[in-house]
Amino acid sequence: MIFPDYRPRRLRKNESFRALIRETHLAPAQLIYPLFVMPGKNKREEISSMPGVYRLTVDQLAREGRECLKLGVNSVILFGLPEKKDPMGSGAHAKDGIIQRAIRELKNSVPELLVFTDVCLCEYTTHGHCGIILENQIDNDTTLEVLAKTAVSHATAGADMVAPSDMMDGRVGEIRAALDEENFETVPIMSYAVKYASSFYGPFRDAADCAPQEGDRRGYQMDPANSREALREATLDVEEGADILMVKPAVAYLDIISKLRDEFDLPVAAYHVSGEYAIIKAAGANGWIDEERVMAETLLSIRRAGAEIILTYFAKDMARLLQG
Ligand code: PBG
Repeated sequence: MIFPDYRPRRLRKNESFRALIRETHLAPAQLIYPLFVMPGKNKREEISSMPGVYRLTVDQLAREGRECLKLGVNSVILFGLPEKKDPMGSGAHAKDGIIQRAIRELKNSVPELLVFTDVCLCEYTTHGHCGIILENQIDNDTTLEVLAKTAVSHATAGADMVAPSDMMDGRVGEIRAALDEENFETVPIMSYAVKYASSFYGPFRDAADCAPQEGDRRGYQMDPANSREALREATLDVEEGADILMVKPAVAYLDIISKLRDEFDLPVAAYHVSGEYAIIKAAGANGWIDEERVMAETLLSIRRAGAEIILTYFAKDMARLLQG
């Protein structure tokens, strides 16, 4: 069928036709809102490179959680700024650590909210790397034990799902085994399966104070040039017991999201990261783009590429827009 018999514009005539044939939809329930938790009392601190995103003290979390639920955003993921850091990242699994307290506060005050946690060490180590350093090297297998301990401590505090973001080899399997051992066999793992060594994480590292003091993360996060390797990484995580596969960042890696969607039958998540958010906010603030429409189009593109789930700092704004 070609012109003049076929005229695609027939079905674009008005919004009702367009809505009728729309292939991709966004819903607030598919969005996960990241929260940054800091020590102290009664404080909200705006992150300068992420306008509209705040570091919150634990007492501020209930209000935030209720607001998310009201907007239909049923899930949050927590990142912590500990009081103290050390070379072993022991604050990550402290019983009374910042994240453990944050989980308990949210599960007590807003029990219907799903509380997910980022499992990593970079926010808790003095050197800012995602693993334990032994003899000047990031020691993979020593790190696994600490990560597993951290995941178990999150589950013990009440976390609904854990999300390892460190990119050490074998961590999903190690965490799965540790959770099962402690009778947390029903707590799922969302693995940052395909996480690139990306420059788009810049604002997050300010927000969470976790930039490496020396060197970079290219020895464990993936080379942005690689796509076949993404399938190998994801395959490993599936075999080790991941329940959800994540790709990160999102927009610069839509091809990877689409590949994972085609190759695997697990749910696929994508993390629209801090730098991707900051770019839209900055251009919007300058009046160079229509921020709201660019936000919606961007998130839609991530869904269209194949991600069911999107982690985004725009979660509340997008939900508000969807509610009309
Ligand atoms: C921790 C972690 C990072 C992000 C999520 N978890 C930073 C990093 O890997 O350097 C980035 C999130 C964002 O940029 O929004 N490892």
